[in-house]
Amino acid sequence: MAANDYRGYLRNHMDMEQGGSRFQPPTQSTHRPLIFGTLAVMGLLQVASSVTILLHLTGYLREVDLSSAQPIEEVHSEPIIADPFKEIKKKERSRKKDPTPIAHLSVKTPMDFASTDPNVLTTVHWNQFHGTLKKVKYHDGRFVMEEQGLYYMYAKTCFRYAPDHASKKQDVSNVQLIQYIFHESHTQTKLKPVLLSKSGATFNFSDPKYNMYCVQQGRSVQLKQSDGLFVNVSNSWLLDPEPEGTYFGVFKLST
Ligand SMILES: *[C@@H]1O[C@H](CO)[C@@H](O)[C@H](O)[C@H]1NC(C)=O
Ligand SMILES: *[C@@H]1O[C@H](CO)[C@@H](O)[C@H](O)[C@H]1NC(C)=O
Repeated sequence: MAANDYRGYLRNHMDMEQGGSRFQPPTQSTHRPLIFGTLAVMGLLQVASSVTILLHLTGYLREVDLSSAQPIEEVHSEPIIADPFKEIKKKERSRKKDPTPIAHLSVKTPMDFASTDPNVLTTVHWNQFHGTLKKVKYHDGRFVMEEQGLYYMYAKTCFRYAPDHASKKQDVSNVQLIQYIFHESHTQTKLKPVLLSKSGATFNFSDPKYNMYCVQQGRSVQLKQSDGLFVNVSNSWLLDPEPEGTYFGVFKLST
């Protein structure tokens, strides 16, 4: 009985030992990595938070934030760069729809209006089929405004004479070459042109060589709708028939 008990005890003890030895290593091998792993993770978190605090204190993280914000800034700046072009395109579109009043015409040839009478003034006629006429009408030597506003007008008239080639033999020893620009206001009950500008000179064109003289005038003028502008000259028979020599123009500056 006692031997059995002892044997039983031994067996139990051995079993316990065996079982313990069989059982103990797994408990050691599963618990230890768990503890070490937890400690490692905690340590890593500690290091990470310390590094983060350190980076914040040194200002490195702000730099990182700025550099990471830059692409956003670029995205924001794109519309700012595109804006001026948008404005230009918008202006171009509105200009096509609503063009600025402008006119530029050259002298009409042949100049059947030309008079050789030195005392007679002649209204210069312009070739409306070559040149520019936008929101400005042309009628009987006149620019007629479709829109009121502040305009700039200019006129150039060249006079030339070569006695050897002249078809008309005239006394040109004292020719007055004057250019006048008139404003015709249609709002007035009685149409009375107002002289806006005059310029010119007196020449002796008897020199057998080529004689040439040009007058150019320009100024701003406030015009109403249907107002007219025209150019009168003395000795129109001496006018240069080339489009580069004699022309008349007007364009709107503002309302
Ligand atoms: C301008 O010339 C025309 C002739 O073409 C003349 O009838 C008119 O009276 C002149 N105008 C002025 C204001 O001198
Ligand atoms: C005009 O010029 C011509 C040729 O140069 C000269 O013979 C004549 O005397 C001049 N006339 C006057 C009025 O100056």
